Amino acid sequence: MSARPLHFNAFIWPNGYHESAWRVVPDDVRGVLGLPYYAEIARIAERGQMDSIFLADNLAIAEYRATHLPQTQFDPIAVLSALAAVTSHIGLIGTGSTTYTKPWELARRFATLDHLSGGRAGWNIVTTITPLAAAAFGEKSHPDQATRYQRAHEFVAAVNKVWDSWGDDAVIGDREHGIWADRSKLQDPAFHGEYFDVQGVLPFPRPPQGRPVLVQAGQSAAGVGLAAQVAELVFSGPSSLEAGVAFRSNLHAQVTAAGRDPEHVLVLPALMVTLGSTEAEAQATAKRLEELSSPEFRWQNALYTAGLDPDAFDPDKPLPADLWTGSATPSSRAQQLFAAAQARPEASLREVAQQVTGGAGQLHFVGTPEQLADFIIEWQDAGASDGFTIMGSTLPYDLAAFVDHTVPILQQRGRYRTEYTESTLRGHLGLDRPTA
Ligand SMILES: Cc1cc2nc3c(=O)[nH]c(=O)nc-3n(C[C@H](O)[C@H](O)[C@H](O)COP(=O)(O)O)c2cc1C
Repeated sequence: MSARPLHFNAFIWPNGYHESAWRVVPDDVRGVLGLPYYAEIARIAERGQMDSIFLADNLAIAEYRATHLPQTQFDPIAVLSALAAVTSHIGLIGTGSTTYTKPWELARRFATLDHLSGGRAGWNIVTTITPLAAAAFGEKSHPDQATRYQRAHEFVAAVNKVWDSWGDDAVIGDREHGIWADRSKLQDPAFHGEYFDVQGVLPFPRPPQGRPVLVQAGQSAAGVGLAAQVAELVFSGPSSLEAGVAFRSNLHAQVTAAGRDPEHVLVLPALMVTLGSTEAEAQATAKRLEELSSPEFRWQNALYTAGLDPDAFDPDKPLPADLWTGSATPSSRAQQLFAAAQARPEASLREVAQQVTGGAGQLHFVGTPEQLADFIIEWQDAGASDGFTIMGSTLPYDLAAFVDHTVPILQQRGRYRTEYTESTLRGHLGLDRPTA
């Protein structure tokens, strides 16, 4: 290949990433609750030799979401384990929270997935933005952003130690002497930090990848700081090509400052795609989706994704200014919402929310598969991305169009693999296997 190979991750979401997707697809409304829905998407992504599929995790939903969107927030590891059985190569990335799990427990769950899938697991490290999770987990309060990220650094260090607690060559299977594993190759993580104390080896050998791939998607300064220290794959959410270039070069500078190689930290911006066989057809689909969007959903969602409780606000009044005059650091999504509110102090929350659409990112490509291929190459050549996290606006439809019509163009142009040459997620991403 002439340029560096592209990498693609398929974001799985019920009926598609656009909030109106479930209203336009012809499928059984309850289909998103069954394994066949996920299996079909995974198989389509694998048909396109994509690097991975991805399942988000949002602990504790705000109830307004049940009115407007299909609710399918299963445990990602359970779903990905089932998908491991119906796929053979594609990487399986799931989100896991550093605020509402324990390091040993999370290490075990992702290592289980790595074993069951033959080395295809990835962990999207999140600190969980919604304060509603605290009540669900019986906690008195939701830690502030700074504390959450401090804990996250320590959490990841502890998880790595648990994954490394078996030497790669520990299992010897010596039937004659009755020694299954060499105990001297086991090492207690013996991790003692400010937030976590973790002792006890993994209850099974080291995962095939050594460590599942570490993924990070936080966009705030603290989030990028964590990514620079530990992430091997980063899901960014830029709103323009320029923002994408700035994000990636800033991340690379911080990766270098942390003593790591930027070549081994891939950036896959989140990209919602609406495809059509002509541009007019794609535009018509996108228009239909937008027309079905609910203004009620928009303002509630803007609050929820910013980590605020929608039930505590009046949509016909401006957002209270004390939200941004306090000392707590807002999340990246809250910063966007507050900036929009400050720019129009008289506007109601309902009006302001119209400007801050989308969940994980705002980039929405609408056009033909050929135009999408050009768009992807432009971003790669500009240094804004190493590929994309593809969010079909309707699923599996837009993902199938990407796989069957955009991928072949990228292959013809020498930008993308024509078959899997590796069997692990690390292999697909060109990442080294960490030693214990
Ligand atoms: C592609 C993508 C996927 C994400 N998936 C999740 C997720 O599954 N769970 C979650 O709580 N946040 C998810 N996020 C949000 C971020 O990880 C992060 O929690 C949020 O942006 C707030 O942190 P920040 O202020 O550091 O950006 C995702 C973001 C992106 C761009």
